[in-house]
Amino acid sequence: MNSKLPVLPEPFRIKMVERIRLHPREVRERLIKEAGYNVFMLKAEDVFIDLLTDSGTSAMSDEQWAGMIKTMQAYAGSGSYYSLEKAVKDIFGFKYFIPVHQGRAAENILFSTMVSPGCYVPNNMHFDTTEANVRLRGGIPVNLVVDDAYDTQKILPFKGNMDVEKLENFIREKTPAKIPLIMLTITNNSAGGQPVSMENIKQISAIAKKYGIPFFIDACRFAENCYFIKMREKGYEDKSVKEIAREIFSYADGCTFSAKKEALTNIGGMLCTNIEELYEKFKTLAITIEGFITYGGLACRELEAMAIGLYEAIDEEYQAYRHRQIEYFASLLRERGIPIVEPPGGHAVYVDAKRFLPHIPPEEFPGQALVVQLYIEAGIRAVDLGSSCFGKIDEKTGKFIPAPMELVRLAVPRRVYTDNHLKYVAESLARLYEKRDQIKGLRRVSAPKILGHFTAKFEPIN
Ligand code: F0G
Repeated sequence: MNSKLPVLPEPFRIKMVERIRLHPREVRERLIKEAGYNVFMLKAEDVFIDLLTDSGTSAMSDEQWAGMIKTMQAYAGSGSYYSLEKAVKDIFGFKYFIPVHQGRAAENILFSTMVSPGCYVPNNMHFDTTEANVRLRGGIPVNLVVDDAYDTQKILPFKGNMDVEKLENFIREKTPAKIPLIMLTITNNSAGGQPVSMENIKQISAIAKKYGIPFFIDACRFAENCYFIKMREKGYEDKSVKEIAREIFSYADGCTFSAKKEALTNIGGMLCTNIEELYEKFKTLAITIEGFITYGGLACRELEAMAIGLYEAIDEEYQAYRHRQIEYFASLLRERGIPIVEPPGGHAVYVDAKRFLPHIPPEEFPGQALVVQLYIEAGIRAVDLGSSCFGKIDEKTGKFIPAPMELVRLAVPRRVYTDNHLKYVAESLARLYEKRDQIKGLRRVSAPKILGHFTAKFEPIN
C-alpha cells in the first residue's frame, strides 16, 4: 500500500473549526523543558498537532450535539439512559449494562468485584490503566499475546490474537481457582492497535467455558476490530460491522468499554454482562462510586451522545474512511523510510523507536526521547508506549526491566485531522529521521510507582 491509495473523501463536511498554533522552536524548547520533558505536562494549546491519544478527542457530529441539547437531565430515568440501553442491546447484545464515566471506572468495578490478592488475570495485552487496576487489587496481570505481536516487521492479519496454547497451559499451571476472569483487548492497543480474529475470540471463549472462568472483552476499539475482521477474515466479507460485533460479544460474558474511543464522545464508558449475579454486585458498587445506574457519573447528555455515536462508529462508510486514513498515514511514513509497526493498527500508527534510535538503550528511553524531539521539531505530541510506560523496576534487585518493545504511538483522533495534517507529521518525522544520530537519550529523574509515565520527569543526557 502506498500514498497513491484511491481517494476516499471523508463521509462528512466540516461545520466548525478550531484554530491551532505552532509556537517558534525556541518557545517549544522552553515549554518541553518546563514540562520535565514529559508531553503529558504540556498545555494542549501549546501543541500544534495532538496525536497523544484517540481517547476523548473525537469530533462529535451535529446529530450528537443536537441529541445532547434535546435530552432531559434527570437524576433517575432520563430518556438518554433508555436510548443508550437500546443501542447497547442492539449492538453489543448483553443483558445488563451500567454506564460509567470512562473505561477505567468499568475496570475498577469489574476488578474490585472479581480480583483478590494473588490471583491472575490473563489478557492478550493489558493497557496501562487495566494493568494498574488489576495490580491495585493485588492481582497479577499476565500478557499472553501471540509471539508475532512482538515482531514489528512481520505482516500478519491478526497480530492481536491471544496465544491459545499459552492460555491453556497457564490455566493448567495456576489452576482455574486462581483465575477469576480472562480478558481480551480488541484491538490490542499496547502493541500496535492490532486486531483479534473471530476464530481466536471463539477459541478463547471455548477455553474459558471449559474451565468455568468468566470471559470479558475490553471493547474500547471494537468497531475498528470488526472492520478488520470484515476485511481480513474468511466468511465475514459480506457481514455488516454490527453483525460481526454481535457475534463477537455473543462469545463473552461481558465487556468493559471506553466510550471515549468508539462511541465518538469526549467522555463516558460502560460495563456490560450477561451474568445476573455479577450485575447485582456491579450495580451496588457503581452506585457507591459512580452514581445512580441511569447516569453513571455522567451528565445525561453524555449518554445521549454515546447512544448516537455508537451507531456512527459502526457505520461502514465511516469505518472505510477511518481505516483508509490510517493506511495512508502509514504509507507516508513507510515511503520516507521510517520504521513503523507493520501492518498499521486501527487507531494509530506506531513508530518502532528501537529501530529509529538504535543507539539509545532502553534505560535511556528511546521512545520518550523521540516524543520529545518530535514536539521540539514540529509541535507534534505523540506518546511513548515503550519503557517509560511499560518498563518496570525489579522490586528485589532494583534493576530496570525494559518494556518488550519501544513504540511511539501516533494516535489519530477520530474525524479531527485531515490527510494534510498527517502529511505534515510524516514530513516532520522524516526530518528527524535524517538527523537521528544526533538525538540523545533521557534520564528519568522521578516517577511514581504505578502509572508513573503520566507525571514522570526527565532530563536530557548530554
Ligand atoms: N482499555 C484500553 C485498551 C484503552 O486503550 C484504554 C484507554 C482503557 C482501557 C481505559 O479507558 O481512558 O476511558 O478510562 N486508552 C487511552 C489511550 C487513554 O490513550 O489509549 P479510559
